[in-house]
Amino acid sequence: MGRQAMNLGKARADTRLILHLAGLVLLLFASMGVNVVTAGPKSVPTEFTPADNYLINCGSSSSTWLDDGRTFKSDPQSASYLSTEEDILATVNSLPNNVVSSSPSSSFPLYLSARIFEHESMYRFLVFSPGRHWVRLYFYPIAHPSYNLTSATFSVSTDSTVLLHGFSVKDSTRMVFKEYLINVSSNAFTLKFSPIKNSFAFINGIEFVSAPDNLISDLATSVYPVADFSGLTKFALETSYRINVGGPFVTPRNDTLWRTWQPDNQFNAFPQGARAVSVDPAIIEYPDDGATPLIAPPWIYATADQMVDSGVADSNFNLTWQMSVDPSFSYLIRLHFCDIVSKVMNELYFNVYVNGMIAVSSLDLSTLVSDLAVPYYKDLVLNASFITNNSIVVQVGPTLNQQSSPNAILNGLEIMKLSNLAGSLDGLFSSNAAPSMGSNKLKIAAVIGLATGIVALVLLVISFIRRQKKPKGWKRQKTFASWLPLNSSFCSFLSSKTKTTNFSSFVSAGVGLGRQFTLNEIKDATKNFDEKAVIGVGGFGKVYLGELADGTKLAIKRGNPSSSQGINEFQTEIEMLSKLRHRHLVSLIGYCDEQSEMILVYEYMANGPLRDHIYGSNLPTLSWRQRLEICIGAARGLHYLHTGAAQGIIHRDVKTTNILLDDNFVAKVSDFGLSKAGPSSLEQTHVSTAVKGSFGYLDPEYFRRQQLTEKSDVYSFGVVLFEVLCARPALDPALPREQVNLAEWAMQQNRKGFLEKIIDPLIVDTIGSESLRKYVEAAEKCLSEYGVDRPSMGDVLWNLEFSLQLQDASSIIHDPPEENNRKHNSNLGGTSSEVQLLIDMNDDSGVVVASPMFVDENLEGR
Ligand SMILES: *[C@@H]1O[C@H](CO)[C@@H](O)[C@H](O)[C@H]1NC(C)=O
Ligand SMILES: *[C@@H]1O[C@H](CO)[C@@H](O)[C@H](O)[C@H]1NC(C)=O
Repeated sequence: MGRQAMNLGKARADTRLILHLAGLVLLLFASMGVNVVTAGPKSVPTEFTPADNYLINCGSSSSTWLDDGRTFKSDPQSASYLSTEEDILATVNSLPNNVVSSSPSSSFPLYLSARIFEHESMYRFLVFSPGRHWVRLYFYPIAHPSYNLTSATFSVSTDSTVLLHGFSVKDSTRMVFKEYLINVSSNAFTLKFSPIKNSFAFINGIEFVSAPDNLISDLATSVYPVADFSGLTKFALETSYRINVGGPFVTPRNDTLWRTWQPDNQFNAFPQGARAVSVDPAIIEYPDDGATPLIAPPWIYATADQMVDSGVADSNFNLTWQMSVDPSFSYLIRLHFCDIVSKVMNELYFNVYVNGMIAVSSLDLSTLVSDLAVPYYKDLVLNASFITNNSIVVQVGPTLNQQSSPNAILNGLEIMKLSNLAGSLDGLFSSNAAPSMGSNKLKIAAVIGLATGIVALVLLVISFIRRQKKPKGWKRQKTFASWLPLNSSFCSFLSSKTKTTNFSSFVSAGVGLGRQFTLNEIKDATKNFDEKAVIGVGGFGKVYLGELADGTKLAIKRGNPSSSQGINEFQTEIEMLSKLRHRHLVSLIGYCDEQSEMILVYEYMANGPLRDHIYGSNLPTLSWRQRLEICIGAARGLHYLHTGAAQGIIHRDVKTTNILLDDNFVAKVSDFGLSKAGPSSLEQTHVSTAVKGSFGYLDPEYFRRQQLTEKSDVYSFGVVLFEVLCARPALDPALPREQVNLAEWAMQQNRKGFLEKIIDPLIVDTIGSESLRKYVEAAEKCLSEYGVDRPSMGDVLWNLEFSLQLQDASSIIHDPPEENNRKHNSNLGGTSSEVQLLIDMNDDSGVVVASPMFVDENLEGR
């Protein structure tokens, strides 16, 4: 029972993930300028739902609920984010009484456990929505029988930024909380823990959470010289101070973005001159433009410090706050103001000084926000060269003018460290894995990739490396491309002495690669790689249509040698294809490896991808029967991959664009770039691997566990089946939220008995109801939450064949529609009575049959 409940919970979590993804796609659309109309002032956002929201209580065996409403996942639940299998955990029941922290007590449960890393290790998080993300780290050196955590010294970095360098928590009475705002432009985020030599690293809790887009704008004002400052986006930020001036602690529970605001007591350099004021937070009225509750919640604006003798005509001094900082960095200073002290407008004018320099002269809130109790904030950048005495001093003092009574206020103050030129927030060492590919490019690629709805090859990667086995491989990962098969298992299944895997050496070692083409032949065939001959583009490079002198048409895949993804995929593909020959797999004809080119030559599939025949182009509609035959062909190809080769092979990227049709509409599975050899021994029932594939087709269990089985292909194939039935993409962000993900939507509609409403209207009337039932049953089983519940490809094939028989039976019984003109392709003709007999005998939907019917006559060996 309990277990079932747990499984249900998991299922829901996955659903959420998928919805999440869908939401994100919409979000991307919105950010691309498809304007989401927002109403007037009442639409000020007060709540924020982060697109990415990873909360981990490291080392803990159970999830942890904080009083701010958030649940931090237990360590086992989060293991999939981790690159290492090192399992050194530490837990204690309580913290010492004398322990101190600047973070609120509600977060204390996170400090009760820790994960220890003896080797460089990383967490990898999928990024659904690029942009600023909070990274919050919790450290406390709890007691462990064999590790003294106070002696741990390590660095923490992201792909682009060093967060902590040579960091340690030597004082066992200190809980350390670190908060960063990192701009993430790629589709995955890495948090790397690197122990210094002979030491180890530890971490108690991690948050990796999206921040609102407009939280930190690109623009600020430089303190000196006073000027616009642009380019903030380029910096990583670390929160040094976040202060609720004149007010109490505001904890994550009361903050829209789970931030913590400290009271200002310890920073107030002239406390006797300041008087705290507060109003009911309910009267705070956010402006139409500018501050929002996400910038700071009303609690911050509802309290302030003002001058103790405000309004006394001759009072003239500055309210002063002093914060110590590292003088080798520049800082972003955000000042929060809200006039909660004046009775009427135009009474309050004051100057703002930073480190003795006037930063804002005669600040006039009445003009800036046109009402009392309306929040306003100002971002200043202070260059490191103006930091003296290791501190930042913020002052506000009255502007001397006769009309108004002197006063000055400050409501909130945030100080954030800006990353330096080395991309570091701690010292001058840069993160050794600086991305070599422009991050903007990545972002654009991501946006296009998702938003076009093709959603091709947005690769989800949370990779595993086996402990100690391949740490070097990880160092090599620098680009988006290199998240792709890191290849530990690929390399091992290559007969490989090839350490620097070079295409030629690989090819020369290969067997059965068919004909070797010269570069000139290829150039002639493609008219020197004419752009007009391009019939496809992928991670590896472009695919050209080529024609040999004798008229033979070829598909020529030209690798982009600069892409490591390309090299890997090419090698995989060669390896796979050289082993495989099957009527329903696209076959390799030859290759060319002259002049560092990586070119593979395939049979040309005249009718292109299946998808184009189902929707999105103006090609003639395929009948239900044709669709069934195509699905059967593809299923045969996959069935052969899973069972036919010496080792089962998992395709990993089954989708309608990877099922190609030849001139007779025979379906062939293509693109083995992501394929993996299946488990080699019987005890091993899965392959641990990076999650790859295409959004919308991805097996939720694979995603969750990174354990690849044939059943992941079965899941994707289930999506294909619905795609073929409903004639719409696996993910369509343009649709209402619940419809975005086809697999979910179709299953839901089917459960409600509305499936017919979403079937391709062009063929819905031609589908026999029994044929449909069998087909949907198969598709539905493919999409089972857990791999063990999914049928094998053989079973799917059986069901599809059966569905085809049922279709034929119904079209014989009824008026045969014109689609029967393709019936000669079916090996199951027969008179109506024969067919009827077959149906009666086989109408046992639950039975799983490894029928000899599927022994492939086309098997040509390898
Ligand atoms: C936090 O919010 C609760 C109500 O949600 C309120 O009663 C409490 O005063 C708030 N705390 C602070 C510090 O503002
Ligand atoms: C307020 O501070 C500024 C900058 O430190 C200083 O120039 C100014 O004289 C101060 N005003 C008073 C009245 O002390």
